[in-house]
This record gives sequence, C-alpha cells and structure tokens, in this order.
Amino acid sequence: MIPQPEIIKPALPQGQSVPDSIALQIQGLSLMLANTQVLDGIALELPQTGITTLIGPSGAGKSSLLRCINGLHQHWQGKIELAGQNIHHWQGGWDQLRRHIGLIAQKPCVFPQSIRSNVVFGIQGWRQRRRADALVETVLRQAALWGEVSARLSAPAETLSLGQQQRLCIARALAIKPNLLLLDEPTASLDPRSKQLIEQSIKSLAASMPVLCVTHDLEQARRLKGRVVFMCDGKVIEQADSEVFFKQPQRLESREFLSWSVCEC
Ligand SMILES: Nc1ncnc2c1ncn2[C@@H]1O[C@H](COP(=O)(O)OP(=O)(O)OP(=O)(O)O)[C@@H](O)[C@H]1O
Ligand SMILES: [Mg+2]
Repeated sequence: MIPQPEIIKPALPQGQSVPDSIALQIQGLSLMLANTQVLDGIALELPQTGITTLIGPSGAGKSSLLRCINGLHQHWQGKIELAGQNIHHWQGGWDQLRRHIGLIAQKPCVFPQSIRSNVVFGIQGWRQRRRADALVETVLRQAALWGEVSARLSAPAETLSLGQQQRLCIARALAIKPNLLLLDEPTASLDPRSKQLIEQSIKSLAASMPVLCVTHDLEQARRLKGRVVFMCDGKVIEQADSEVFFKQPQRLESREFLSWSVCEC
C-alpha cells in the first residue's frame, strides 16, 4: 500500500466558507494571448479527490488552462478558486500559490543535482531539506520509484531513464505536499511499463487529492476512470463521468473527436 500524502489546506480568509466537496472552482475563465482567444468562458469544478482527465485536439487550450491554474498565465479574466481562495489574491502571491500546486510537464525536467536533492528541491529551509529522509522515501514510493533508486539517492538525476525522471518529477511535486496535482501529458514519451507505473501512482494519489491530467491517449483516459472534460477551441464542450462519456458522448463535437481516434485502416 503506497502511503498517502497529508493534504494541508491553505488558511482561508476570515468569514469565507468553501463547500467541502470542491477543491478547485473555475468560472468564466477567458485568456487572450497575442490577439488569440485561447480560453473562452471555461467553467470547471474539481472535487477534493479523484481524477479528471482533460482531452481535446491540439491547440484546444488544455496546457493554457493548467498554466492559468498555477499562475504561469496571470492576465486572464474570470475566477479561479483553490480551496475557496481566489488565486489572484493568494496570500504571498503567485510563488506561494505554486507551493500548493504540483505541475508535471510532458518532458521531465530534472535539475543537475542528485536524485535526493531533486526530491527535496521545493522544501523550504536547508535544515528541513537535510532531515527529510522519511519524506524522500514516502514520496518516492508514492511515485513508484523507490525500489529503483533507494540504493543510489546521491547519484545524478540525469543518470535516470526518461520514465524514471518523470516519476522523480512526480516525487518532487509531492514533496511540497500539494493541494492539487496538474499533469500535462505525463506519459506522452514513455514506454508502456513506465506509463503503467505512472498511471498506478496517479490513481493512488487521487485517493487523497484532486488530480487534473491532460492526455491525448484516450485509452489512458478510460483506464484512469474518474471524470472526463473535453475541450475544443478554448471551450469546455462536455464533461461527464469517463464511462458515460466514452459510451455515450452527448455533443456532436465530442462524437467527432472520438471517431477521429478510431483507426480506419
Ligand atoms: N504564449 C503564447 N502566445 C500566443 N499563443 C499561444 C501561446 N501559448 C499558446 N498559444 C496558443 O494557444 C492555443 C492553445 O495552446 P495550448 O498549448 O494550450 O493547446 P493544447 O490544447 O495544450 O495543445 P496540445 O495538445 O498540442 O498540447 C494554441 O493555438 C496556441 O498556439
Ligand atoms: Mg498542451
């Protein structure tokens, strides 16, 4: 059994109450970049736990949406609330906000340091980092990497395979005890075994935190279960339980998108 991280909720402003069931709430989110409407009136809610997969054609705005949520894009209109707090007014600013959100990109980005140093990178205070052995083991286990690296934690992170590096990035994101995990095509360039390990890890993590995962792999979206959000042209076209969505998509755009993925040859 993989140990689950403790979720630390940010303190809420006085007098503000949040529906317990909602971790992230997005309303009317619009984003213009270089005169292009990249996001157009997005509405989305993530519950406290569980996986939501974000699918849609290239250019639909999936990565841009993740970038708005963790404050990499800041000039958007609308409302994004994490644990009931408007992220535009997050106490301590965008850097503090990012301490509550783990973001895993498509290409693993490891720092030219040891495996252990990569894991503890986001932990504040050198004393805390030095004493973090138990946490290092916990998050490496959660990322399904402990067995492969426990004997070489001081080896350079670049000596890991791509699949291992991606799991190291997941461990690094977990070490800051995020309230929300965002993954942008986390297994796009990985072999089936690494993909399977990461999917197992995502499922296990989603038991204790909300996970929003972009994928082009519709089989992966089916396997991860949870909810599916289908985006096209900067809009959320349809969202539903994964089984319902793949069996009976309601919107024409969703049906067309799913039919493109069927091989005709
Ligand atoms: N910094 C930017 N400046 C101008 N346009 C941008 C910028 N970033 C993204 N875009 C445009 O916004 C649109 C959405 O891009 P985004 O990367 O969010 O799509 P996506 O759904 O993640 O696509 P993919 O599946 O290919 O990763 C695209 O048309 C893209 O060209
Ligand atoms: Mg993208």
